[in-house]
Amino acid sequence: MVMKSMMKGTAALLLVMLLTLVLPAAEGSASAAGGSSQQLRTDASLSVVNQFGEDPRTEWNFAWVTGKTINTGQVEYAPKAGFKSFDSKSITVSEAVSRSTETDAGVRMVHKVSLSGLQPGTQYVYRVKNDNGTVSLKGTFRTAESTPGAFTFLQITDTQGANADDYKLWSKTLKSALASFPDARFLIHTGDMVDSGQKNGQWEMFTSAAIPELISFPIEPTVGNHEAVNSNGTNPSDKYFTDRFNLPVETDAGAPPGTVYSFDYGYAHIAVLNTECSEEILKKEAAWLLSDMADTDRTWKIVALHRGIYGATYDSATIRKLWAPAFDRAGIDLVLQGHDHNYVRSYPLDGGKKVLPGKGTVYITANTGGVKMYPKKQRTWQEVDLQPYTQMFVAVTVEQKKLTIQAFDINKKLIDSLAIAN
Ligand SMILES: [Fe+2]
Repeated sequence: MVMKSMMKGTAALLLVMLLTLVLPAAEGSASAAGGSSQQLRTDASLSVVNQFGEDPRTEWNFAWVTGKTINTGQVEYAPKAGFKSFDSKSITVSEAVSRSTETDAGVRMVHKVSLSGLQPGTQYVYRVKNDNGTVSLKGTFRTAESTPGAFTFLQITDTQGANADDYKLWSKTLKSALASFPDARFLIHTGDMVDSGQKNGQWEMFTSAAIPELISFPIEPTVGNHEAVNSNGTNPSDKYFTDRFNLPVETDAGAPPGTVYSFDYGYAHIAVLNTECSEEILKKEAAWLLSDMADTDRTWKIVALHRGIYGATYDSATIRKLWAPAFDRAGIDLVLQGHDHNYVRSYPLDGGKKVLPGKGTVYITANTGGVKMYPKKQRTWQEVDLQPYTQMFVAVTVEQKKLTIQAFDINKKLIDSLAIAN
C-alpha cells in the first residue's frame, strides 16, 4: 500500500517535472539587452500568445502570464533573414508593461509587449525573456504584406473544457487545421476558449495545450460568455479575457477596452465584436461597426462574434435585433459565430430574408473545437445545419474576387464549402 502510494508520488513528481521542463537556453546565455551576463534557461512551459496590433503590416503584440515572483520581461526580436542568435547585436529588445492581477489561484503577473514600426511582409524571430532569467521557446511571426494578396485564415470556436484531456481536443483541432493550411495567417477564435474564465487553471490548460503553435501563430480572440462572467454573473471589465490577450483598444465601441477591435488583412476588413454586453453597449458597438466599415476600402467585410445571431441552439434575438440591421447596412459578407456547438451555414440574408448568392450576409457557426456538442436545431435561416459529433474548424480563403469558406472535421474531412464571388 505504502509502496503503491510512493509510486504514485514518484509518477506525480515526474509529471510536474515534465510540465515545468526547464532546458538549457538554445541560443546563448548572455542577455543582448544590456550586455549583462545573466545565465538564461529556456522554459518550455512558458505560454506566449501573439496577435496583431492595429495594423498587421507593422504592429505585433504579445502577452504572457507568470507567477508573482517575475516582475517584468521583454521580447527580443529580429528579422528571420540573417538571424543567427539572440546574442547578436542585431536583436531589438522591447520591454513589457507588467502588472499584477488577482486570480482564483492567487496573484499572477500579466506581461504585455506591443511592437510597432515593423517591416511589412517580413518574417521575424522572437523570444520572451523574463527577469528571472527564463526565456520562452523561439517563436516566429510574419507581418502582413503591404500590397494585398490572397490568404487563408482559420476559425475555431468553443474549445472550453474542464480538464487537460478536454483541452487536448482544442490542441488536436488546431494542429489539424494548421496541417491542412500550413500557410494560414491567423486564427480567429470565436469565444468560449475556456469553460470558466475566472479559473486561472483553465486558461493555463488552454494556452499550455498549444505552446508551440500559439507562440508562432497569431490568435485573434473573441469574448464569449464563459470568458466574460464570473460566479456572480458579472465582470464589467472582461478582466479574465483582457488579462490574457494584448489587443488594440477601440474606445468608441462602448465595450470594455481590448474586447472590440478590427484590422485590414489583404483584401478583407475584419471586425471582432463583444456580445457579452448590455443593450446600451450593444447599440454603441453597432454604431462603431458602421463607422469602422465605412472607413475601409477593402473588398470583403467580415465580422466575428460569439453568440450567433443566425445560429441554431440558442436564439440570441436581442443581439440580432440590434446588430443585423447594421450588418445589412454595412454590407457585411460573412459573420463567423460560436456558442451553439453545432455547424450552421445560413442562406445569404438581408433583412432576415433569404437573398440571391453573392448578396446579403452569410452566417457560419463553426460547431466546436472542444468536447461539448449539441444536437441540431432547425431554424428558418439555415441552408446547412450539421452535427457530425466531432470537432471542426473553418478555413476562409480571401481572394480579390472570391471568398471561399470550407468547414472540416478534425480528421480534415471536408464537411461543407461555399464560394462567394463579388
Ligand atoms: Fe457560449
